[in-house]
Amino acid sequence: MVEPIRLSTREEREKWMSEAGYNLFNLSSDKVYIDLLTDSGTGAMSDRQWGAIMTGDESYAGSRSYYRMKQAIKDILGFDYIMPTHQGRAAENVLFSALVKEGDVVPGNSHFDTTKGHIEFRKAKAIDCTINEAFDTEDMHPFKGNVDIKKLEQVFETYPHEKIPFIIITVTNNTAGGQPVSLENLRAVKEFARSVNKPVLFDSARFAENAYFIKVRENACAEMSIREIVREMYKCADMMTMSSKKDAIVNIGGFIAMNSEELWKQVSVFNIIYEGYITYGGMAGRDMEALAVGLEEGTDFDYLKSRITQIEHLGNQLITWGIPIQKPIGGHAVFIDAVKFLPQVPREQYVAQTLAVELYLEAGIRGVEIGTILADRDPETRADRFPPLELVRLAIPRRVYTNNHMDVVAVALKNIWDRRNSISKGYKIEYEAPIMRHFTVKLSKV
Ligand code: F0G
Repeated sequence: MVEPIRLSTREEREKWMSEAGYNLFNLSSDKVYIDLLTDSGTGAMSDRQWGAIMTGDESYAGSRSYYRMKQAIKDILGFDYIMPTHQGRAAENVLFSALVKEGDVVPGNSHFDTTKGHIEFRKAKAIDCTINEAFDTEDMHPFKGNVDIKKLEQVFETYPHEKIPFIIITVTNNTAGGQPVSLENLRAVKEFARSVNKPVLFDSARFAENAYFIKVRENACAEMSIREIVREMYKCADMMTMSSKKDAIVNIGGFIAMNSEELWKQVSVFNIIYEGYITYGGMAGRDMEALAVGLEEGTDFDYLKSRITQIEHLGNQLITWGIPIQKPIGGHAVFIDAVKFLPQVPREQYVAQTLAVELYLEAGIRGVEIGTILADRDPETRADRFPPLELVRLAIPRRVYTNNHMDVVAVALKNIWDRRNSISKGYKIEYEAPIMRHFTVKLSKV
């Protein structure tokens, strides 16, 4: 699909941004020139995917399209039991309904916000065990998504084992900057999990990008195909949740997959209550067809190389100008280090949000804050939680923009970089929801 995009004036953007309460989620898309809010559901589907859409079987039970999707998941990821859901957070909701109870503790590597939300909503706790290197944007560690095994051991020493239902690994680690987890680390976590008799869950939204980084950065895997690496990765997982809107390149969809038939029976009850019957779970038959094709296309090396090279094109241009970003450049996005960019703006005034708003005002480009607003308040003290990094994420949709668009983004940031000393104040909150406030928060200028 090709969509027109529209230029706007600075005056128009000032007005729209003020009406939107300085929250980029509140803007209608026609007010955005280049939309890097997310790479989720925003990819362009291929000719093969659109063709498959026409063959969707919309039977309520036992649809042919369900079996096609099930086969693709078996072939690529190796799981026997699957449950379709309408998107990733729905997969979390259904699976966690079976596995997470009040008072539980779920260790992992920088849980994504919906993952953390579904844990905290159940009055359980998410504990971040990501390696410390991830929190230094200048550190060139090739696998900043890795789990720190020592931190993981610490969690098991601190809490009773019956309170820990599973270990979660997010591949790639979105919150830390689209950073991959090495195969070596996945194996180490699995070995540890085996020793404490706990299952491992992969939050798999960007599993193929993770496999690409393993191929190009982990010497032992250089000669393996993406598919071979994916199979090796998933030997370390007992179950997975998937937001298919990322690496399966569809506009909507998700699933849970697992090795245990017993668990499948347990989650099917929740799937029927929350999502739909077990062979469609909130998805149309045609969408399951597109997902099956998307899984194949999303694990193609040439596609992954062109995608990740585009992210590098943008990131390297920013590095050339000295603009501080998370390094090495991640899989689906460039993450700008907002505290280094605008050190004079207090963190209490939401520095990453300030920079994201500035980029929109400069050129109509919509990124997203991955910082204090996203981190929500502490559920007990209700104080703002200041995460180790304040980032502005520029997520690149799959197969949508050209490198020409990336150049426009780079120059817009350079313009702000050149006048950065003139930006000294941020924003304060006028309205916020009790959980996941970033979607609907309203702000005003300090
Ligand atoms: N896990 C990860 C790692 C994610 O990045 C997301 C979504 C989800 C789970 C939830 O999936 O959106 O299909 O319900 N990430 C999007 C983003 C929203 O912009 O990074 P969902």
